[in-house]
Amino acid sequence: MERIGVIGGGLMGSGIAEVTARAGIDTVVVEVSQEAAQVAEDKIRSSLERALSRGKIDEAELAAVLGRITVATDLEALADRDLVVEAASEREDVKLDLFRRVGAILEKDDAILTSNTSSIPIVKLGAVAGRADRVMGVHFFNPAPVMQLVELIPSLTTSPETLARMQAFVTDKLGKQPIEATDRAGFVVNSLLVPYLLSAIRMYEAGYASAADIDKGMVLGCGHPMGPLALSDLIGLDTIRAIGISMYEEFKEPLYSPPPLLDRMVDAGLMGKKSGHGFYAY
Ligand SMILES: NC(=O)c1ccc[n+]([C@@H]2O[C@H](COP(=O)([O-])OP(=O)(O)OC[C@H]3O[C@@H](n4cnc5c(N)ncnc54)[C@H](O)[C@@H]3O)[C@@H](O)[C@H]2O)c1
Repeated sequence: MERIGVIGGGLMGSGIAEVTARAGIDTVVVEVSQEAAQVAEDKIRSSLERALSRGKIDEAELAAVLGRITVATDLEALADRDLVVEAASEREDVKLDLFRRVGAILEKDDAILTSNTSSIPIVKLGAVAGRADRVMGVHFFNPAPVMQLVELIPSLTTSPETLARMQAFVTDKLGKQPIEATDRAGFVVNSLLVPYLLSAIRMYEAGYASAADIDKGMVLGCGHPMGPLALSDLIGLDTIRAIGISMYEEFKEPLYSPPPLLDRMVDAGLMGKKSGHGFYAY
């Protein structure tokens, strides 16, 4: 795994690219436009500058990491990659289209194509990629450079060899801690987390308490590092809504269904921290 491609340079893609480049790997990030590619590059640079200011890396390391990252707008830039991590927006149509195209572009027979999706069935992505045995889910957590956990999700068609290669890569090369989950919407962490976040949004919507008090309740009452509404803003309200919809479609469990307030906020462009406004202003 010497050449890695990351599709999408948003919240997660930029963090994943930073992780792989910091692990010494040549990394290409593909975005939808030159402008988006520039935003992704700026995000990675400012994250590295934060690491520098905290003494986690030095100037030479910062320059070396940036030197390993190339941004592009054409999926053809992924042709020679050993591994691709797709981290585009949480939309099934977008991901199916990407897997169809990238599956045909990858030149190496043993190249692995993975998705950072939180809830879209991996088996569907494998089915369109033309290499179903070499497709699986690799779910990083936000912020990727800081969070240790990576969920590994083999689908019904993923080969044991692909899973073993990704286990070794995540552990030995990235220094992260994998857990394995089955290909069910939400995997392990979001299956537990998303209904909790949606319940907090419902509680706020129903006027139980202010956003600040709901968050303070969980921070001080349960020792969580962050309350559920602040965490929703950090994850991105569009992403939480999309995960809730996928989980609801799969299990028909009412707790997974996004509340109307979340729909309205997303329709209004209030996506949380990444758009500057969600339950809080940033
Ligand atoms: N936000 C989180 O906390 C979190 C955590 C784990 C996993 N995820 C998953 O990671 C993925 C990305 O989420 P995010 O939070 O980074 O979203 P985001 O909105 O911050 O970024 C998505 C990026 O994908 C780009 N994109 C869209 N279509 C594309 C295409 N066809 N080709 C290339 N780039 C494209 C967009 O321009 C955008 O920059 C989703 O599948 C999400 O479920 C998110």
